[in-house]
Amino acid sequence: MASQPPPPAPIVNPDIKYTQIFINNEWVNSASGKTFPTINPTNGKKICDVQEGDKADVDKAVAAAKAAIQHGSPWRSMDASQRGRLLNKLADLIERDHVYLASLETLDNGKPYRESFNVDVNAAMVTLRYYAGWTDKVTGKTIPIDGTFFCYTRHEPVGVCGQIIPWNFPLNMMSWKIAPALACGNTVVVKPAEQTPLTALYLASLAKEAGFPPGVLNVVPGYGPTAGAAITNHQDVRKVAFTGSTEVGKLIMEGAAKSNLKRVTLELGGKSPLVVFKDANLDMAVEFAHMALFYNMGQVCTAGSRTFVQEDIYDEFVKKATARAKAKTVGDPFDVTIESGPQVNEEQFDKILGMIESGKQEGAKLECGGARLGNEGYFIQPTVFSNVTDNMRIAKEEIFGPVQQIIKFKDMEEVIARANDTPYGLAAACFTENLDTALTFTSRVEAGTVWVNFYHFVSPAAPFGGFKMSGVGREMGEYGLSQYSEVKNVIIKTQTKL
Ligand code: NAI
Ligand code: MG
Repeated sequence: MASQPPPPAPIVNPDIKYTQIFINNEWVNSASGKTFPTINPTNGKKICDVQEGDKADVDKAVAAAKAAIQHGSPWRSMDASQRGRLLNKLADLIERDHVYLASLETLDNGKPYRESFNVDVNAAMVTLRYYAGWTDKVTGKTIPIDGTFFCYTRHEPVGVCGQIIPWNFPLNMMSWKIAPALACGNTVVVKPAEQTPLTALYLASLAKEAGFPPGVLNVVPGYGPTAGAAITNHQDVRKVAFTGSTEVGKLIMEGAAKSNLKRVTLELGGKSPLVVFKDANLDMAVEFAHMALFYNMGQVCTAGSRTFVQEDIYDEFVKKATARAKAKTVGDPFDVTIESGPQVNEEQFDKILGMIESGKQEGAKLECGGARLGNEGYFIQPTVFSNVTDNMRIAKEEIFGPVQQIIKFKDMEEVIARANDTPYGLAAACFTENLDTALTFTSRVEAGTVWVNFYHFVSPAAPFGGFKMSGVGREMGEYGLSQYSEVKNVIIKTQTKL
């Protein structure tokens, strides 16, 4: 990721064009009249106030989305390939405004502009284009049963989909949610994270410009326990897709069960093992383990947050990993030469510093970092702990910050057992030159994605999701698409034997 070419110059103070709620292709204020501030994590200052949606606004958005998917509506009766044209058009508009969107993401989230441009906005385009290609390929089957029946399946949209987005990849995660939903002909009500609502609102304006009919895509900014819960508990929402904490994932499943048994897909937390075997290319493993943890300031659900290193190479690995972390450039995210920016907000900043303290107190060895960086904004020094043991909080809980845990292991059997000894199962990786070692690891580790000699590569064409408490269902690829249709089996009695 660091090897990508520098993008065109950012817009350091992008205009904020949209701060209202988007329903039925119109901008409206919140029913309550309330607003909430969105903060620039680089300096802790308010960027602007945004209309604060809650239940009343969600009700309006769901009603609009429900009307937009009725039989006979422009969206419901549209040629499926035309939905693909609209998704492609939306991707083209994102490409037109690539610099602006990447700048807005960096302002609101604090992630390096270089990453916003090369990764986040780019991934949103790629995802929309991938699913644009699927729209007219979502087909059923004819099924040979008893010869006096004609039997076939139809893949129909599920209905109104509620989509709750996290703040770590705001635009990108929104594209993961809306692209397969719209490809299958659903309508959506999106709730962006309260920390980072701005790119979602701009994307809504582009959807209108692209020509999506009113009510197909609605965006209600607001808080989780109010707007988010209203989506989860709504009787007319047929499916909810969520990315965020495991704690809230449980609430969503509970709310879905207690309301109308809406379909649920969840992408939740992780404590992903990255295992370096003694035969690995050491420098490569050090660099990938660094990126696996520190990418996006550690705010990644798949972060390689338990770095297991075989005892033979442990000391050398720790030395090199520490040197790499010390060399990391952290600063103004609009500076295209820096690698890292601030954490997203004060709450995350405090949580991470608290976890660092627990690591010190529980006896891990602090190799570097361990404190705040500077005195403005939410910057934290890249931190490395060695001599970490499995029972420490830093080895068990999701930190979601720039804190690497390096843990020693002896052999395959032991490391597999320890890697799997967690309620999570989102991602895993191993570094080795030996094919048998790689195959043994990949078949035994419990994780939705396993990388070998790499980390953090995702593609819209390949499934993403978690085992165990890291999630329910899969997003992306054909697997992700399947979560956005209901299968209807039609059986027609015939007069003659077919
Ligand atoms: P969160 O899970 O509270 O927030 C994620 C989204 O869920 C936001 O849009 C939020 O408004 C919404 N939400 C919150 N409470 C809700 C509720 N009761 N009903 C419906 N929606 C609700 O995560 P938060 O508090 O921002 O971060 C806490 C921790 O969660 C982080 O430190 C990290 O460990 C983890 N996290 C994981 C993410 C991932 O990519 N899997 C993304 C964000 C956070
Ligand atoms: Mg929360």
